[in-house]
Amino acid sequence: MAERAIKNVAVFVSGGGTNLQALIDAAARGELPHAKLALVVASRPGIGAIDRACAADIPVIVAAPKEYDTAAYDAVLLDIAQRHGIDYIVLAGFLAILGPVLLAAYPRRIINIHPSLIPRHCGAGMYGLRVHRSVLNSGDTMTGATVHFVDEDVDSGEILAQKQVPVLPDDTPETLQQRVLEQAEWQLLPRIVEQLCRGDYEEER
Ligand code: GRF
Repeated sequence: MAERAIKNVAVFVSGGGTNLQALIDAAARGELPHAKLALVVASRPGIGAIDRACAADIPVIVAAPKEYDTAAYDAVLLDIAQRHGIDYIVLAGFLAILGPVLLAAYPRRIINIHPSLIPRHCGAGMYGLRVHRSVLNSGDTMTGATVHFVDEDVDSGEILAQKQVPVLPDDTPETLQQRVLEQAEWQLLPRIVEQLCRGDYEEER
């Protein structure tokens, strides 16, 4: 059977959803010709990302990890993805850990965006402003964002792309976070999602 040219993408979110918005805006500009933003999965109710999805007419499912044990949550996410015919999963500020069943069903088909230049300032507990605080404490003069495949560890999968952003002398964690979002994350993520859906990262067979 011929592969569909347009791939169904699910975006998994836990927060404000500005990266989701960057994807929605890129799609509206015609920059994601091989991707359909088919579903948003939220790890908790009441978050800004849900409002953004609704405004863009993207179906939303709330699946909260605290309502399941680890294995059941893994199965629930897989069931959601399969029922919606999802080809690729994008973690855009998703704070729950994916389990082995979902990962095995989507090899090289799940990506994450992290707001630093991995391997700097990443791993368990490194999310949100903690990342940018860590950058400032380290004295690094460059930071940025990384898009990588997701594997069973945190922030450890194969790196697909990085974009650098300068750290300025008077930065606070908040100003640095905003610069990384604007100058790196919101540009990098739509570009990589399109490349992924176009098949650029498929393994040679
Ligand atoms: C972003 O910094 C992303 O890199 C990280 O979580 C944050 C999510 O922000 N994984 P938003 O919800 O997309 O605004």
